[in-house]
Amino acid sequence: MDLSAFPYLQGNYAPVEEESDWGENDLVIEGKVPESLVGAFMRDGANVAYQPNHYVYPLDGDGMVHAVYFKDGHVEYKNRWVETSHLKTERKFGKTIYGSVGKLLPVPQEVIDAGGEPSPIRNTANTNIIYHGEKLFTMWEGGFPHLLNNDLSTVGLYDYDGALQAGDALTAHPKVCPDTGQLISCTQRWDSPNYWVQVFDKAGKHMRTIPVEFERKGIIHDLQITDNHIIIFYAPAFHSLEQAMKGEDPFHWEPERGSKIIVIPRDGKGKNMIFETDAFFSWHYCNGFEVGGKIIIDYVWISSIPFSQAQGTGVEKQPRRMYRMTLDPTTKKVTNEQVSDVFCEFSRVDERRMGKQYRYGFAASSNRDWGDAHGYNCTGRFDFETGETKLWEYGPEANAGEPVHVPNPDSDREEDGWIMCFVHNPEEGQYLSILSAGDFDNGPLCKVRIPSRVPNGFHANWMQSLTLG
Ligand SMILES: [Fe+2]
Repeated sequence: MDLSAFPYLQGNYAPVEEESDWGENDLVIEGKVPESLVGAFMRDGANVAYQPNHYVYPLDGDGMVHAVYFKDGHVEYKNRWVETSHLKTERKFGKTIYGSVGKLLPVPQEVIDAGGEPSPIRNTANTNIIYHGEKLFTMWEGGFPHLLNNDLSTVGLYDYDGALQAGDALTAHPKVCPDTGQLISCTQRWDSPNYWVQVFDKAGKHMRTIPVEFERKGIIHDLQITDNHIIIFYAPAFHSLEQAMKGEDPFHWEPERGSKIIVIPRDGKGKNMIFETDAFFSWHYCNGFEVGGKIIIDYVWISSIPFSQAQGTGVEKQPRRMYRMTLDPTTKKVTNEQVSDVFCEFSRVDERRMGKQYRYGFAASSNRDWGDAHGYNCTGRFDFETGETKLWEYGPEANAGEPVHVPNPDSDREEDGWIMCFVHNPEEGQYLSILSAGDFDNGPLCKVRIPSRVPNGFHANWMQSLTLG
């Protein structure tokens, strides 16, 4: 492959070509693995298998999952592509067939005649990986999720026993309610401007759909829950399928429209509340909760739509900062306050506090002005009680991925958990970092050194009690 034309396929964004299985003889453990860890750290990301004709970071690239399994102090690693029908078709023909979300290509008739995947829209399965109802899924917000086995082999597309209809696109950012185990998710469709909240019970059985009507389909990536509400940001960010088919830039930012915040009752009863404010974009919420009749949302604020369609022009160099938004349902007033001046993305919390009052957020962060194509060289801890941001730097040129809070099963305290993320440091190679959530002064308690590279990717999660058997 010649990837020189693609800034977001350089350095540690470049794909790996191998699927690997590393056992204890291959992995080097520096420090001590916490013995109470039973489960797996898994991260999804884009890893192009064939020469791309076009590449829009962060939406393109075949999904690949990297996993580190923990049991009784023992550790194993695997990485696998998600075997989507698009990838399987390209493998059959031995070349690139499908285009990008930024530039769709018609599928050749010979591919369709040979039983290849007929949809020009590649389900990349590259955005997130979750474990819910004892099932493992990779998610991509433009289509169905893929069901995987614990060893990362692909079972196939999953429709939640018929709850998803052809054309439904399930979000890659569902939330799990810590009280009920419910999966709060949503669907959109390529052929409709509307949005549907989808609620599944703790076993993954569909419970209810709450429709939300829009005049125009917006790019809505994440959602947030509180005890009683589901909140989404409707930014003036749009994608035109027609323009993508013509090869024109399909992404639009129309700031004069402002941003709307839609607050939806979780039980599906009562009216939605709509708040309006100046235009902003956000990929990711950190958390949200209700207090004193108000709704608080912590999130990573971005000034506008951050697609790097115009790669190399610096469009990706937009400030991203942790903000706290307060919504007052009585006055309909929105107040917005910057929490930290650190560049950050991929915000996470102790998931036991999802939708509830909490103290700490964690995010991939940079101690430079921006996290540019070299990624994030720090993990940040954002203390919402004191306002303090602490950074742990892995090395000036290191790339640190989304930090996941892994709860300590023996403690309810956020500080007693561990923060895990993949780190690639040119000076010391690839490792999984395990930091103490309560100690950002002394660096990783443990590094699991991996002989192969883990390219920069997207979302990760801790899969409690998931093992290889
Ligand atoms: Fe995301």
